[in-house]
Amino acid sequence: AAEPLVLGIETSCDETGIGIVRGRRLLSNTIASSMAEHARYGGVVPEVAARAHLEALQPAIEAAVAEAGIALGDLDAVAVTSGPGLAGALMVGVGAAKALAVSLDKPLYAVNHLVGHIAADILTGDDVEYPTVALLVSGGHTSLLLVRDLVSDVEMLGETMDDAAGEAFDKIARILGLPYPGGPEIDRAAATGDPQAIRFPRGLSRASDLAAHRYDFSFSGLKTAVARWIEQREAAGEPVPVADVAASFREAVVDVLVTKALDACAQHGVPRLLLGGGVIANRRLREVALERAAAAGVAVRIPPLSLCTDNGAMIAALAAELIASGAAPSRLAFGADSTLPV
Ligand code: KG4
Ligand code: ZN
Repeated sequence: AAEPLVLGIETSCDETGIGIVRGRRLLSNTIASSMAEHARYGGVVPEVAARAHLEALQPAIEAAVAEAGIALGDLDAVAVTSGPGLAGALMVGVGAAKALAVSLDKPLYAVNHLVGHIAADILTGDDVEYPTVALLVSGGHTSLLLVRDLVSDVEMLGETMDDAAGEAFDKIARILGLPYPGGPEIDRAAATGDPQAIRFPRGLSRASDLAAHRYDFSFSGLKTAVARWIEQREAAGEPVPVADVAASFREAVVDVLVTKALDACAQHGVPRLLLGGGVIANRRLREVALERAAAAGVAVRIPPLSLCTDNGAMIAALAAELIASGAAPSRLAFGADSTLPV
């Protein structure tokens, strides 16, 4: 079909996402999150996430089908994230997708989660142009990609060597005594702080690091630096200026993300930058990205947040593009691959 009706299943982390698209048109995007269950651990607990997917999938599928106003039998294909992500969480989605595809006798498309994030942009209704550089930042990944063609040519330029950007926000929030998830909390606290108050390190940004890690990220050194700075203040019996620490930390993360993304645009002669992932909610990140990109002559695209955070619609959208390009469905023997390359 030229405009295939596709249901996408996303369970790579803590969001159970079911999305339905007709070609490039979004019909429904249902998301159930187990974030609240992870709050007391300060981060996503894989086993808890997997169990939550098992319980949330069926109701989410029913809700998405109802919202789209379709019947399951109308579907042309089923799509599912097969990686990268948490192995147990992925397996729940893959198992459900296989069961659905077999019972409906429809083709099944296994897709890459990161490429799915890039495909989300198609659903905004605006014309999408390639090549583009894509910066994907969430609690689970921090990746810089060069997209020459969505279905056939996506190159990983670099990724985090340790924590994901969102994870860094969550860990620093914890150190500052702010609740989980920490990203929005730090964003709020930083609003009244001075981003230049403390000069925290920019990971993998020294000339000696850039040779081998030009587009890679590292946030563990920054985390240690913030923790040490706070300890020293406390040891000296001085109060911790939470707003200044939050603003300075946020500035360090944002600076390195935007600097490397625009460096990739410049090196590859690509005047487009696509942003994706839950950390895109960060106000300072959007602001600095838009400001510096404008100065560099780079057009920035930021899909609505509901399409930036993990969701099933982006997975369905990618499969619809694959179908339109004539790609064959996946053979049913595929598994979940927590480190699936693009
Ligand atoms: O894409 P997402 O919803 O899902 C997962 O990665 O699971 O991203 C969630 C992450 C969390 O680490 C959260 O702290 C971070 O995105 N986040 C933010 C902001 N809002 C959410 N980080 C920085 N600033 C924000 N405003
Ligand atoms: Zn994601």
